[in-house]
Amino acid sequence: MIAAMPRLIGAVMRRLLARSMVLQHGTIPRDPVAHGNRDAGQLYVHVPFCPSLCPFCTFHRVRFQRERATPYFAALHREIDRYHDAGFAFQDLYVGGGTPTVMADELGALIAHARNRFALRHVAVETNPSHLTEPIMNALVAAGVDRLSVGVQTFDDVLLERMGRRVYGTSAEIVAALTGAAGRFKTLNADFMFNLPGQTDGMIDRDLATVLDIPAVNQATFYPLMTTRGSQIALRARMGSSPNREHAQYERIRRAMTARMRHSSIWCFSIEPDSIDEYMAYHDDYAGVGSGAFGYLGGRLYSNTFSIKRYVDRVVAGRPAVTGTRMLSERERMRFDLLIKLFGLTLDKHAIEAKYQGRFRTTLWKEIAAFKAIGAIEESTTHLRLTEPGLYAWVVMMREFLSSLNALREDMRAHLEAERQQDREPIRLVAPTMPNA
Ligand SMILES: C[S@@+](CC[C@H](N)C(=O)[O-])C[C@H]1O[C@@H](n2cnc3c(N)ncnc32)[C@H](O)[C@@H]1O
Ligand code: SF4
Repeated sequence: MIAAMPRLIGAVMRRLLARSMVLQHGTIPRDPVAHGNRDAGQLYVHVPFCPSLCPFCTFHRVRFQRERATPYFAALHREIDRYHDAGFAFQDLYVGGGTPTVMADELGALIAHARNRFALRHVAVETNPSHLTEPIMNALVAAGVDRLSVGVQTFDDVLLERMGRRVYGTSAEIVAALTGAAGRFKTLNADFMFNLPGQTDGMIDRDLATVLDIPAVNQATFYPLMTTRGSQIALRARMGSSPNREHAQYERIRRAMTARMRHSSIWCFSIEPDSIDEYMAYHDDYAGVGSGAFGYLGGRLYSNTFSIKRYVDRVVAGRPAVTGTRMLSERERMRFDLLIKLFGLTLDKHAIEAKYQGRFRTTLWKEIAAFKAIGAIEESTTHLRLTEPGLYAWVVMMREFLSSLNALREDMRAHLEAERQQDREPIRLVAPTMPNA
């Protein structure tokens, strides 16, 4: 029954997300540092610089320029301090991008600064294969990075060329770089993409065989291609188009990966059960630091400005970098929790009822009943769990959710001119209450 469902599930998700994932701009939004939930466990720091820009990528990124990046790293220190001074106590740090390793010395200093402010348990960093050099890896090890996530995408040289990724290494160079990183990080993750235009099942099989043959890699994550309207057109012009193979390729990946590794999330597979996985990036609450970073504190979704210059100017002036926020309704928060917890495969029923004072099941009974009816989730006395057929249903929903974040990014970029006007106006000292706050 569930096999026929993905399109419907995707369409329903798109409709719900189109209503929820909208930020309010135009006024000085409530400052999440002043109003947020101080129990947030995770600090996300965004470094938007990359040596070369990949045409498929929808994240906030710009070409690396040392003279822009140096003041940017300094501003990150200041923004981290705002959270510290407001009483936040983060346990995990995730530095994503962009390519956070563009200035390894600055990155090391940034992590040391965060460690100085917070008792961090885990530090995760994203990078690309050409940055797996001795000096960069030494800096990361010295900074205590325990999860390094490396963007491989594919081991197929023709596809790498078409994706604009040859600049980060050929297949043979990527294998050598990953092999050279052996034993330095508790978790060495390789990121892959599937359902790319022109990506055949044979290419996927070779990617799987190759990664499983590199002992240094103890975790692999497989992202289905996600596009925005703009990126889809550019991608099609560059890579052509081919029939949608998402479901079949996901099942192929799952079959091969679960023979050697176990699921850490729907699309992340690890050898060690205690490895640090990308699920770490989905705490109940997390603060977002840096230009273009999203945060989610106490039910409030927010985004910092996508202008790197204005980000630095605002932070240096002691002002919030947040330029878009939205308070989610309780039902929206519950749906978000259901999605994210089951992205990590299980949901603890007692913990979630405690969080919502016993209102979770009574509010989301229709959603839970529907997922049980189509066989996507099963229930024990303590947990809700994804079933095997439910895994792909969740891939569809997470893809739609992450695509809605891409749409938010486009919306934030579209508001840059309005932000510029706003920054010219005198600073209002009292932050107004949002209409639905
Ligand atoms: C934001 S990148 C940062 C890592 C690093 N800059 C790199 O490219 O190697 C993290 C991962 O997101 C994934 N990604 C980027 N664009 C994507 C897209 N349009 N659809 C699906 N996954 C994507 C890629 O697997 C990439 O390695
Ligand atoms: S995929 Fe990585 S390297 Fe490429 S543009 Fe995106 S963040 Fe930069």
